[in-house]
Amino acid sequence: PYSFFAMARKQSPVLKTKFFQAEGWLITGFKEAEAALKDPRFIREEGNLPLEQLVVVPESVKPAIEINQSMMLFKDAPDHTRLRNLVNKAFTPRMIEKLRPTINELVDYLIVQMKGKIEHELIREFSYLLPVFVITEFIGVPKEDRELFRKWSDAFVKFIDFNTTMSDLEKIAGDIEEASNYFRSLIAKRRNEPKEDLISGLIAAEESSDQLSEMEMVATCLLLLIAGHETTVNLITNCFYLLLKNPKQYEMLTKDLSLIPSAIEETLRFESPVILTSRLAKEDFEFGGQQIKKADFIIVALGGANYDPEVTENPEQFDITRQNIKHLSFSSGPHFCLGAPLARLEGQIALEKLVTHLQNPILVEEPTLRGNIAFRGFESLKIQAEIK
Ligand code: HEM
Repeated sequence: PYSFFAMARKQSPVLKTKFFQAEGWLITGFKEAEAALKDPRFIREEGNLPLEQLVVVPESVKPAIEINQSMMLFKDAPDHTRLRNLVNKAFTPRMIEKLRPTINELVDYLIVQMKGKIEHELIREFSYLLPVFVITEFIGVPKEDRELFRKWSDAFVKFIDFNTTMSDLEKIAGDIEEASNYFRSLIAKRRNEPKEDLISGLIAAEESSDQLSEMEMVATCLLLLIAGHETTVNLITNCFYLLLKNPKQYEMLTKDLSLIPSAIEETLRFESPVILTSRLAKEDFEFGGQQIKKADFIIVALGGANYDPEVTENPEQFDITRQNIKHLSFSSGPHFCLGAPLARLEGQIALEKLVTHLQNPILVEEPTLRGNIAFRGFESLKIQAEIK
């Protein structure tokens, strides 16, 4: 997609174009993308689906759409602000830092499980498991239920992707409902028996301030689970893949672990787990030299902005020694990723342990990308390595 974004940017950083099922504006310039994400005239509500899809919605898909629309990610102020403030209380730097020993332990456990074998599929054995373990622990999902989440997460990713049709939605709506019902019953359990977890925290917020509906609570649990899942799996996997493709940088990193944070930031820039997001224009106005009309569909190419040569020198080059890396992979403005500090922490610990424990890893075959448009990640990553 990056050459396509570059071509579009050359024509105009804000370009009118046909994009999958919708006509809209494609924003590929860094400055313009950042400004759009911060501009309250670009809104989210109903912006998650191309408009024509919203016209006829089969009954079977309505509950899934309703739950989706209750997520803060798809809301605007004032509802967005209210929901975000509530959840934000659980995402303080101190709370995240408290997860450090848990993440360290989980990563050590996963590495021990990989011992005694040479051939590994890094996603199944490692990158997929870490974010699920961390977030389920944080939300308060019992360990034995972790296995359920791949299907639900896949369904959700498909649900909000750009090339998804109504018939796809009909197929996956059941999975989304199943996930919602799961959380509904978990919330009911916690009402009787509170614990030190996010669900109990949300229940306390609901009971003390009447600021949160049951539907919003379910939607928030689902959002946290899923927003932080596919993305973090892909961050870890993409990072390790890029290092294997750039062996000199891999070696440099093994000798100087202080490069880990910039290796993670450069991966976010170079191969962002989310390359596109969307908005809807609230009114007619001029933006980036273009005349935007009310209800126009806007696609912000986060992955395009990350390759803007006005902001990043030699953007096509993966370089973990870059200074002052700039990217929009966690978005910007009111929807800036709530989980960014957690994702960074997980990514950094995972990478550090992988490069420390994997001996001379090699890529067994070129991986294939999963078929999503907005999310960038591989189906699998086959490697060979002995584990120290
Ligand atoms: C929002 C990316 C990990 C929770 C977002 C958005 C992006 C993003 C691009 C905003 C989309 C938009 O503006 O339209 C990522 C990436 C991650 C990651 C690349 C990993 C590398 C996480 C984690 C969590 C999380 C670990 C939580 C456990 C959220 C939430 C929102 C969000 C709750 C909605 C915020 C709002 O609407 O105000 N993320 N995310 N994310 N992310 Fe993340």
